[in-house]
Amino acid sequence: MDSFLIEGGRPLHGEVTISGSKNAILPILAATLLTPDTCRIRGVPDLSDVRFMLQILESLGAETKFERGMVTVRAAKVRGFGDYELIRKMRGSICILGPLLARCCEARVSLPGGCVIGTRPIDLHLKGLRALKARITVEYGYINATTRRLAGTTVFLGGRAGPTVLGTANLMMAATLATGVTVIESAACEPEVTDLANFLVSMGAKIQGIGSPTLTITGVDRLNGTDHEVIPDRIEACTFICAAAATRGEVIIHGARPDHFAAVIDKLREAGVQIERKAGTLRVTRPGKLKPADVTTMPYAGFPTDVQAQFMALMCLAQGTSVITERIFESRFMHVAELMRLGAEIAIEGPNAIVKGGLPLSGAPVMASDLRASAALVIAGLAAKGKTQVHRIYHLDRGYERMEEKLRKLGAKILRVAGE
Ligand code: EPU
Repeated sequence: MDSFLIEGGRPLHGEVTISGSKNAILPILAATLLTPDTCRIRGVPDLSDVRFMLQILESLGAETKFERGMVTVRAAKVRGFGDYELIRKMRGSICILGPLLARCCEARVSLPGGCVIGTRPIDLHLKGLRALKARITVEYGYINATTRRLAGTTVFLGGRAGPTVLGTANLMMAATLATGVTVIESAACEPEVTDLANFLVSMGAKIQGIGSPTLTITGVDRLNGTDHEVIPDRIEACTFICAAAATRGEVIIHGARPDHFAAVIDKLREAGVQIERKAGTLRVTRPGKLKPADVTTMPYAGFPTDVQAQFMALMCLAQGTSVITERIFESRFMHVAELMRLGAEIAIEGPNAIVKGGLPLSGAPVMASDLRASAALVIAGLAAKGKTQVHRIYHLDRGYERMEEKLRKLGAKILRVAGE
């Protein structure tokens, strides 16, 4: 398993371009199963999760090609059963369930297990699809779903922690080919859901209320192929901004959509980070000391759970105490113990992490537990004195395209060490 070796304490300087969004491309790739025609998607990041999804599509009968950031998929014939082992590896693969049911009237996918950030239930996905007249059983670790034809209805999809991103994606995709009208109430409003909706509309789907909590989908008999460019990754942009601020550097960010992460920009400014918009770029600097800031994660347009760990790494460097509250996933604090190895002082009290900032960080070997936790450890390692080795960075490769290359171009001392 590869690791990163970071020699910290060097401010990041220079320019970086943000890649296409991981969480937008995964459901969009699933949506290509809805048509026998060819779909072309540009701006696709080369990530292990994207490669997995393409393999899953192939195991379902689609032809795929991935060259220079463009994916081409032609799912002329599709079967409802794929390679279970592959599907089990990636939680995002749950979003093939809706398209397979709509296209093949049957689907069998492995039940995604829990993961380190929480139990990750799928009850809302199943509730939504059952409301559309799918018969679903969960047996021996698999979800078996069949339908004569999906039929539109009104479904309230909100759950304990608010709306569900992939649940909304699954149901919206299924509803595009259902008979009649489907109304999804308490739909997720994340930009990734909006990008998927725009992709579906370009395929000929009829969707109203895009970007709002009420989506109205009028089913059609057939969808066609299309060309689409995926939105930039807002989480990657926020990660680089936190890294620039943590090292007190000056970084120009190209290709980001700041309107997709206004809540993060607001908090970063409160913490003393300067973010200036100039001719389609963002210039990030940190003129003085970092100030503490409290954050609570929320569904969009609130502060995203996917930036909580990176922001916590930054708050370890602030002059004072910050309270970081995680409201989306119950155990998304795996990075805390590892940040403490670097010298941070953090106490967990239920969903709150109390970060006493301002203590000096110094390098140490640390273990990445999930994608965003890994990013937080990289940020802390870049700011810490001495050498930090971040183990198990395969998590990072799932969601950040060439992260170490991008950081090296910004002047970071970071090496990928193979097989440790
Ligand atoms: N939930 C349920 N029942 C369900 C589905 C979700 O109770 O059937 C709960 C979850 O347990 C959680 C909340 O609803 O408390 C929100 O979960 P959601 O379904 O929105 O998460 P997801 O769709 O499985 C996507 C992203 C995650 C991101 C979350 C929240 C993808 C591939 N994954 O997951 O991304 O954290 O939305 O924004 O799009 C990441 O990129 O690191 C990552 C984990």
